[in-house]
Amino acid sequence: MRPLALIPALCCAAALVLSFLCLFAGHKKGFMEDYHLLTLNTSRIGSNLLNSSAASSSNPLSSLFHNISDSISNEINDRVADLAERIGVEDFYSAHLLDYCYGSYVPSSLPNSTVSKGDIHKDVEGCSNRTTMYHFDPTAALERSLNESGLGVTLGDLNWPEDIQKGIDALRILQKVVFVLYCIAIGIIFIALLAAILAVFASGRLAAGINIMIAFLAFLAIGLASAIVTAVTVKGTNVINQYGKEIGVEAHRGGKFLAITWAATGAMLIAILTWCFECCTRRSKRTQYVEK
Ligand SMILES: *[C@@H]1O[C@H](CO)[C@@H](O)[C@H](O)[C@H]1NC(C)=O
Ligand SMILES: *[C@@H]1O[C@H](CO)[C@@H](O)[C@H](O)[C@H]1NC(C)=O
Ligand SMILES: *[C@@H]1O[C@H](CO)[C@@H](O)[C@H](O)[C@H]1NC(C)=O
Ligand SMILES: *[C@@H]1O[C@H](CO)[C@@H](O)[C@H](O)[C@H]1NC(C)=O
Ligand SMILES: *[C@@H]1O[C@H](CO)[C@@H](O)[C@H](O)[C@H]1NC(C)=O
Ligand SMILES: *[C@@H]1O[C@H](CO)[C@@H](O)[C@H](O)[C@H]1NC(C)=O
Repeated sequence: MRPLALIPALCCAAALVLSFLCLFAGHKKGFMEDYHLLTLNTSRIGSNLLNSSAASSSNPLSSLFHNISDSISNEINDRVADLAERIGVEDFYSAHLLDYCYGSYVPSSLPNSTVSKGDIHKDVEGCSNRTTMYHFDPTAALERSLNESGLGVTLGDLNWPEDIQKGIDALRILQKVVFVLYCIAIGIIFIALLAAILAVFASGRLAAGINIMIAFLAFLAIGLASAIVTAVTVKGTNVINQYGKEIGVEAHRGGKFLAITWAATGAMLIAILTWCFECCTRRSKRTQYVEK
């Protein structure tokens, strides 16, 4: 019996659950929607067009806002708040590992005197079909929504920056690589869990050595996946925010997703350290015994 092996076994079990949650968060409507990789807030898309030339006939939105030119700014803000709804696009598009979801902010997309920022939450309307290796392509989704609205407004009219595509392309590559890495990590963590359970009953340093190796591989896989996800979501969010600001598009990074993926990595690190400790103490015990 080796009771200390229970600690790495528990760590592996925790890491396994957390990795599964990373993979399946948001895979269907309303399931862990908060654990997104990145959310694109399009609720104020086109607000750049309202300030200056709303009255001019060349403005694609002029048909929606005939009388806006000399309205007071308060009124403009009211109109901007439901702009996304008026031109037929969703308020947000959130990327997950297996799909993306879309919907609107309730009770409204902008905080006002009665609705504080904390009261605003997402109302998911639907999610893309779940396919492994799907493309997160909000550009196409936006284009489709605009087309379906039948107003004749296109992304070009809204001055959609080409550079936003860079942030989105980075995410697209990320999703393929990271999906594979999470699957590999889940496989190895499962093996590490089995090995740890076996080692509870099998004493001997060989068992501990094998466990260190497997736990280390699992740590590498989940650590690499977490590092790539962190790097790309941070970079993608910054790029989208830099270029999206001028057309009223914002990106939010998924802090909760990063928290659970790094928690899984931390659990595997604890497993490795426990095995190292077990290995060392066992050796010194035996040395003492031989010396006696
Ligand atoms: C519209 O103009 C106001 C001030 O007139 C400014 O504060 C706001 O940032 C402008 N909005 C956009 C989207 O340019
Ligand atoms: C816009 O102006 C027309 C007439 O000039 C008026 O009938 C209509 O109610 C106005 N719309 C808004 C939203 O103020
Ligand atoms: C704030 O927004 C909510 C939801 O759109 C609305 O019901 C409420 O009347 C607004 N409050 C003010 C003071 O504009
Ligand atoms: C998802 O698949 C169903 C049929 O399986 C199809 O009717 C639907 O249009 C698809 N939705 C999307 C967003 O591709
Ligand atoms: C927009 O819809 C029309 C039909 O309503 C279709 O002919 C056209 O190809 C669509 N454009 C895009 C970019 O999907
Ligand atoms: C969405 O973005 C707008 C600005 O583009 C911002 O004012 C608003 O607070 C954002 N909404 C949420 C729920 O983050």
